[in-house]
Amino acid sequence: MSKIELIQGDCLEEMKGIPDGSIDLVVTSPPYDNLRTYNGSLDWGEHIWKPCIQDLFRIIKDGGVIVWVVGDATIKGSETGTSFKQALYFMQCGFDLHDTMIYEKDAIAFPNKNRYQNSFEYMFVFSKKAPSKKNIIHDRKNISFGRKVTGTNRTASGETKKASCYGNNIKEFGARWNIWRIKTDKGNNKTGHPAMFPEQLAKDHIISWSNEGDNILDPFMGSGTTGKMAKQINRNFIGIELDPEYFKIAEKRISGCGNDKGTLWGPAETCFCNCASTPRAMRSTANTCTR
Ligand SMILES: C[S@@+](CC[C@H](N)C(=O)[O-])C[C@H]1O[C@@H](n2cnc3c(N)ncnc32)[C@H](O)[C@@H]1O
Repeated sequence: MSKIELIQGDCLEEMKGIPDGSIDLVVTSPPYDNLRTYNGSLDWGEHIWKPCIQDLFRIIKDGGVIVWVVGDATIKGSETGTSFKQALYFMQCGFDLHDTMIYEKDAIAFPNKNRYQNSFEYMFVFSKKAPSKKNIIHDRKNISFGRKVTGTNRTASGETKKASCYGNNIKEFGARWNIWRIKTDKGNNKTGHPAMFPEQLAKDHIISWSNEGDNILDPFMGSGTTGKMAKQINRNFIGIELDPEYFKIAEKRISGCGNDKGTLWGPAETCFCNCASTPRAMRSTANTCTR
């Protein structure tokens, strides 16, 4: 049964309550520069994302993964490059940059006559040591299905030699590549949040980098997409959202999503952190969590 803990507050403060090395996977999308004001409440910059990344390193398990979905604003004609600065900072803090993936959208947000239309965001995949779970999704139809592998590899000296799988039968489906074209949920999923990412994106990363029963965190929960997907596929979830209005949207989406195996806040007698007290999300009515 999934344990779900939803916290309305500032992730910098609230993450302090999460024990060291207790999180298997983070799937999140922080604010993108100041592209959106999020109900006017946004305070964003290095002074937030740097300590946030440092604390993510503390709470993630060895072998754990962070999926950081991000894009840049264009200011005075130049992209800010904040995504890259953040990626380099993750590495400076000790994370490996396991993969730079692309989320390719099927729609564009801000048509711009000065450049090619921006149709992607980064999905940086960081890991603390090598990822301990790698459930790579195999759903790319092989056009050579039914034939034998005949490929060669080129060695460092420039010679070619038969690939190790030479002569094997080509399977119907191969491993997915690292550019994911995903339909935006707009229209099907009107939550009222201005910047949600697609459910498919969250779900496929959760499948890829975690197993059932693992602990998933989204420190910038927004409308709760990661939480909804985590619950649906039997993972535990902690979500933190600053804005009270978006927090309510997330609460409603996650409690109402169709997996009756999961319960919002989990069994009332245990806190997510196993401190044996009431989940923090219930503090208003039962102020007993000691962590
Ligand atoms: C890009 S949105 C996340 C959207 C989310 N992935 C979804 O699908 O709905 C970023 C969210 O971070 C929240 N936020 C900004 N600063 C925060 C902070 N310090 N702590 C917690 N949440 C914060 C914003 O209110 C916003 O809802």
